[in-house]
Amino acid sequence: MFVSECLTVNQQDHLQISSCDTVALAQEYGTPLYVMSGDQIRQNCRMFCRSMEKFYAGKGMVLYASKAFSCKEIYRIMREEGMGLDVVSGGELYTALSVGFPAEKIYFHGNNKTPDELTYAIRSNVGRIVVDNLTELETLSALSVAEGKTAQILFRIKPGIDAHTHDFIRTGQIDSKFGLALENGEAFEAVKAAQTYPNISLTGLHCHIGSQIFDIEPFCHAAEVMIDFLGKIKAELGLELPELNLGGGFGIKYLSDHDPTPYDQYMEQVSAAVKSSCEKNHIAQPFILIEPGRSIVGAAGITLYTVGGVKEIKGIRTYVSVDGGMADNPRYALYNAPYEALIANKATQPKNLIATIAGKCCESGDLIQEHTAIQQTNPGDILAVLSTGAYNYSMSSNYNRIPRPAVVLAEEGKSRVIVRRETYEDLIKNDL
Ligand SMILES: Cc1ncc(COP(=O)(O)O)c(C=O)c1O
Repeated sequence: MFVSECLTVNQQDHLQISSCDTVALAQEYGTPLYVMSGDQIRQNCRMFCRSMEKFYAGKGMVLYASKAFSCKEIYRIMREEGMGLDVVSGGELYTALSVGFPAEKIYFHGNNKTPDELTYAIRSNVGRIVVDNLTELETLSALSVAEGKTAQILFRIKPGIDAHTHDFIRTGQIDSKFGLALENGEAFEAVKAAQTYPNISLTGLHCHIGSQIFDIEPFCHAAEVMIDFLGKIKAELGLELPELNLGGGFGIKYLSDHDPTPYDQYMEQVSAAVKSSCEKNHIAQPFILIEPGRSIVGAAGITLYTVGGVKEIKGIRTYVSVDGGMADNPRYALYNAPYEALIANKATQPKNLIATIAGKCCESGDLIQEHTAIQQTNPGDILAVLSTGAYNYSMSSNYNRIPRPAVVLAEEGKSRVIVRRETYEDLIKNDL
């Protein structure tokens, strides 16, 4: 009935997440409130790891793309589930290391890492640094020499795949700020250059074609293009690179009519494409990495709000205002991201109000969703927005000096705070 298995309804007609009553959660912890299902997150990790085992016979690793949702507890969960990590900033790296995440399983990404971030990554002995461009290669080499260490690197490659998704979350095509292009020879030049820089060891290649992709075909195509490139590197430079990171981007269910392909099918078809391309290119199958972010945490999270004013503008629309908005979920304002919502204390009542859910920020574009069906509502009701586990808390801000909501983890009918609600004191703590 709902977009995620972790959501159910109890006898009071209240929405539940991981068997916790969301209305009770709102009362206990206040709103706005992010709630993540620990059960669902763990189940998603296990599904990807099993799939990796099944289709790559253990010659691979699943990295959680932690930009989707980053805090200490999620890194503890990932460590317990045996996952590796994709981090994209010194801050994500710091958070992961602060809970003892094994550095050798961390892949450090980013199109413009600062020298300080690179030094921090080298000193922390992260597993791999994913180098975006030649300037970064040069800087990293110099910093590695200074630190007396060798950086194990992958190159981020633009495979020239145009996955059909929103412009802001498309990354595989030549006009992207990320990585080195294949079409113009830039990527090949970088591979050659890597051989000449001291304290650099090139172990493989990386690509990521975009996000919220439902089709399998672009993933298979990207794998083929990347393996053809590995073949060219072997044929022309005599270099057999042992690793291939195929990125993340698997689509999730935001709306009831979204129908994501089961992830096992992605893995099965992409692994078949990997194997046949390796045979065609006469290379050994590389160690494969994938980097799911949204598909691990997205549908495992919801946001609870308290309804305030309901403003009906006859013949135009009805605004339902809530006590959060673009400061805790900027995704509709940013790229019209679709969401489903419901009144959590009337979960199975018919959705016969077409509403625009508005936030409390001083911005007309501060909307969570427009023209969406919800139950008839009154001030004080609890509104739940579904599938907000990815890129919500991690993209949140203090716009209008609104404190960030708490994050609660729900597991098997129990709940606990994993990120405290910010206070007004927190808001001024760095002000001088
Ligand atoms: C390099 C890289 N890997 C993985 C991801 C995760 O993508 P998703 O959350 O869509 O799985 C991203 C997202 O931007 C990315 O840039």
